[in-house]
Amino acid sequence: MLELQGLTRRFGAVTAVDDVRIVIPDGQMVGIIGRSGAGKSTLLRMVNRLTEPSLGRIFHDGQDVTALSGKALRRWRTDCAMIFQQFNLVQRLDVLTNVLIGRLNHRPGALGTLTALFKMFTAEERAMAIRVLDRFDLAETALQRADTLSGGQQQRVAICRALLQEPKLILADEPIASLDPRNAKTVMDALRQVNREDGITVLTNLHHLNTARVFCDRIIAMQSGRVMFDGTPAALTAGRVREIYGVTEDQFEEQAEDALRPQPPSPARAGLAIA
Ligand SMILES: Nc1ncnc2c1ncn2[C@@H]1O[C@H](COP(=O)(O)OP(=O)(O)OP(=O)(O)O)[C@@H](O)[C@H]1O
Ligand SMILES: [Mg+2]
Repeated sequence: MLELQGLTRRFGAVTAVDDVRIVIPDGQMVGIIGRSGAGKSTLLRMVNRLTEPSLGRIFHDGQDVTALSGKALRRWRTDCAMIFQQFNLVQRLDVLTNVLIGRLNHRPGALGTLTALFKMFTAEERAMAIRVLDRFDLAETALQRADTLSGGQQQRVAICRALLQEPKLILADEPIASLDPRNAKTVMDALRQVNREDGITVLTNLHHLNTARVFCDRIIAMQSGRVMFDGTPAALTAGRVREIYGVTEDQFEEQAEDALRPQPPSPARAGLAIA
């Protein structure tokens, strides 16, 4: 069980996360939604202590995560694997090696040069990596360079790498924001599969309400750092969305689309480029 007690993070005058109190039972799949700047990433990053809270505490199975340091903190970071929007694979390495990198968390200090990496892993670890890749129909890509894969495949490789960590939780920050709808579905299916079959708790930030509705057991809606809604997808009715965000669901989704679209270059920069 993960417990966030009054979790708060300030950046100067900005309160990015404001007194968040939630309890997440083991094995739940939780979607965190909210507009850009609502505090979703800061919240996730506090859970694995990439960002330090200004106030509040985090407990996991009774252990005070906020008090961990050194080896115990590294152990915690192994327990909660991160998935990022941009996949964060080593592009020039093959898929299998990328997945095996997940094992390195189990032996801090053992990181050698990247070219020597492959030889470091035991036959058992390699078999484990192949088995995980096979689960997500990626075994055939094992010896390809990561950059030859589609975005959806790369993100599933990142999920495989996370699984090699043998995590208790997966923290996914906008895992599908860079993907087209078809690839997005394969990645959400993979996360759901990991959640259901392996019993791993999944906390994922999502821009799209519909994705959260379809894939998650529970939705947490944030606004200006605060939790405005916490409940089942069914309870997050169109009326509640209007109450929280002051817009219809369609408008909420449109705003999410806008936030994800790459910004066009400003006229000043475009001018510079021409000059
Ligand atoms: N390192 C930082 N330094 C200063 N301000 C920050 C920092 N990280 C986040 N913030 C601010 O905290 C607020 C919440 O940011 P956060 O990235 O958590 O939002 P988000 O919900 O993940 O947004 P998005 O959907 O755009 O990813 C924003 O106002 C942001 O500018
Ligand atoms: Mg974010």
